[in-house]
Amino acid sequence: MFVIREAEWLAPQVRWLVVDAPRIAARHRPGHFVILRVVEDGERIPLTVARSDSQEGTITLVVQVVGATTDRLCRLEAGEAIANIAGPLGRPTQIENFGHVVLVGGGVGTAVIYPQALGLKACGNRITAVIGGRSKPYVILEEELGRTCDAVLPCTDDGSHGYHGFVTGKLQELIADTANPVHAVLTAGPVPMMRAVANVTRGPGIHTIASLNPIMVDGTGMCGGCRVQVGGKMMFACVHGPEFDAHQVNFDELSDRLTAYRDQEKVAWDHFREQADPGHICKLAVLQ
Ligand SMILES: Cc1cc2nc3c(=O)[nH]c(=O)nc-3n(C[C@H](O)[C@H](O)[C@H](O)COP(=O)(O)OP(=O)(O)OC[C@H]3O[C@@H](n4cnc5c(N)ncnc54)[C@H](O)[C@@H]3O)c2cc1C
Ligand code: FES
Repeated sequence: MFVIREAEWLAPQVRWLVVDAPRIAARHRPGHFVILRVVEDGERIPLTVARSDSQEGTITLVVQVVGATTDRLCRLEAGEAIANIAGPLGRPTQIENFGHVVLVGGGVGTAVIYPQALGLKACGNRITAVIGGRSKPYVILEEELGRTCDAVLPCTDDGSHGYHGFVTGKLQELIADTANPVHAVLTAGPVPMMRAVANVTRGPGIHTIASLNPIMVDGTGMCGGCRVQVGGKMMFACVHGPEFDAHQVNFDELSDRLTAYRDQEKVAWDHFREQADPGHICKLAVLQ
């Protein structure tokens, strides 16, 4: 069992969980993820390790409620436990001195760019973080990124905080500033956003890495669930990624595969909510 030390709502439907997991914390590097089951007979879901503290023996997960398992996980409070967590999994981020790196995070994807920022800064890069959300409450980890990055540029769809528009608009502005050339871009977030980021950087030929989020089951290359096409070749995101050259990723296929089980996922979530404590449902509804 993995005991939760801290549990807080970071944004509407987004939970910050600090969990006792000393062996994972000792080996964690930026880019790694874990696969967990909230209860013994539960579904396995992949989550990025947003932060680790090897002294304290903890890892931090930032989780968005999108279905039955994330809902179950986000109802847990400090002192309660997650049944099992496997990791760290995946290949770590390529950390090197690129020069000026722009990290582009959308929604909960900002939790993926956060450890990348820590690793890339330690390697001497100048870091600009462009983080998006539909409105101010949905922009997460701005303060935490501010402690590491040279600049943090929030963007909101409705203009309630920072730049009024999509992260790609702000990215285009940064690329147009030839006095401060952008040498690499790393992005994580919804598939349409990562596709749009890749389209912005393709023309100027800027090295761009996307952290992909396909459906995963085992996380060890055995089931094929996380299959993605990169440069026309079949890759398993759990063992070959989850980070790939964004200009080579087949985002259409990724998008199709992510929605393949939508009907079953809805049934599972409805069933879970029927069983769950109605008090909690009120709490989530207030946050929506
Ligand atoms: C390597 C990796 C790292 C991830 N890191 C995080 C993280 O740090 N925080 C976080 O909140 N989520 C993260 N995800 C996504 C997370 O695994 C899914 O949201 C989760 O599995 C959904 O489970 P569920 O049962 O709650 O919802 P489901 O019922 O399985 O799905 C509900 C809805 O979410 C969509 N969905 C399902 N799986 C994914 C997915 N993998 N990515 C995006 N949408 C999905 C479905 O299309 C559906 O519309 C990561 C995924 C991967 C592959
Ligand atoms: S999750 Fe099964 S092969 Fe990647």
